[in-house]
Amino acid sequence: MNKRSPNPLAAPKQNAPVLTCNNLSKTFHDGSLFVEVLKPINFSVHARERIAIVGPSGAGKSTLLHLLGGLDRPSSGEIFLAGKNLDQLSENHRSHLRNRYLGFIYQFHHLLPEFTVLENACIPLLLAGIKPFLAQKKALNLLKKVGLVHRQHHKLGELSGGERQRTAIVRALVNNPLCILADEPTGNLDSHTAEQVYQTLLELNEEFNTSLVIVTHDHGLASRLDRTLHMEDGQLISI
Ligand SMILES: Nc1ncnc2c1ncn2[C@@H]1O[C@H](COP(=O)(O)OP(=O)(O)OP(=O)(O)O)[C@@H](O)[C@H]1O
Ligand SMILES: [Mg+2]
Repeated sequence: MNKRSPNPLAAPKQNAPVLTCNNLSKTFHDGSLFVEVLKPINFSVHARERIAIVGPSGAGKSTLLHLLGGLDRPSSGEIFLAGKNLDQLSENHRSHLRNRYLGFIYQFHHLLPEFTVLENACIPLLLAGIKPFLAQKKALNLLKKVGLVHRQHHKLGELSGGERQRTAIVRALVNNPLCILADEPTGNLDSHTAEQVYQTLLELNEEFNTSLVIVTHDHGLASRLDRTLHMEDGQLISI
């Protein structure tokens, strides 16, 4: 019988973990120097689970998040996103999967300063081939939820730090991802604004049933999530 290979982008199985990593490691090469930044790491993120990753500077937290998001490639080990092995996909399929199932929030927002709030919020939908009219409708709906509709036509450079991070939250969620990966999303905000941004993120996360992995130095925030992973010297030391 002529057996067809499974579609790499088929919908994920209902009960599969959103993200799984098996023996994931990363070594950077700097000339003749090898820096082992991640030692073999194993863990899964389940549907709707909210995980904090804490640990000292240089422990490897951002490196891990980049690998989980398919933004960098591991030296060894495997990552499954929505049940699919990222390493076995073409670059095109990997990008498609990343755009479809993951949302990213970074410490310094990484939004496009020359574009407006609405344009920034629409980007993942436009990349997914959604018609601009529908993309705007969806983005506006979320901008309303985070209290930024009145800022929709402002360029990013005209916004406060908290407003930019709320725009980043909208951009991360607008595609209904399975999981948000956030790297110190409030690291450059004062504590009051940081709390507002976290509140918004946690509320929307609950409303959309999204899994969440947040790298944070804020132990108060970590205690509000389902699970805390401690990263030290490239290893997850408690799960
Ligand atoms: N491209 C690279 N080449 C060589 N070493 C790197 C590279 N990227 C990161 N590293 C090293 O890997 C280690 C982990 O870096 P990483 O950015 O993951 O730490 P982190 O836990 O996110 O720290 P922080 O809390 O300060 O953000 C650091 O020692 C860093 O210098
Ligand atoms: Mg970091």
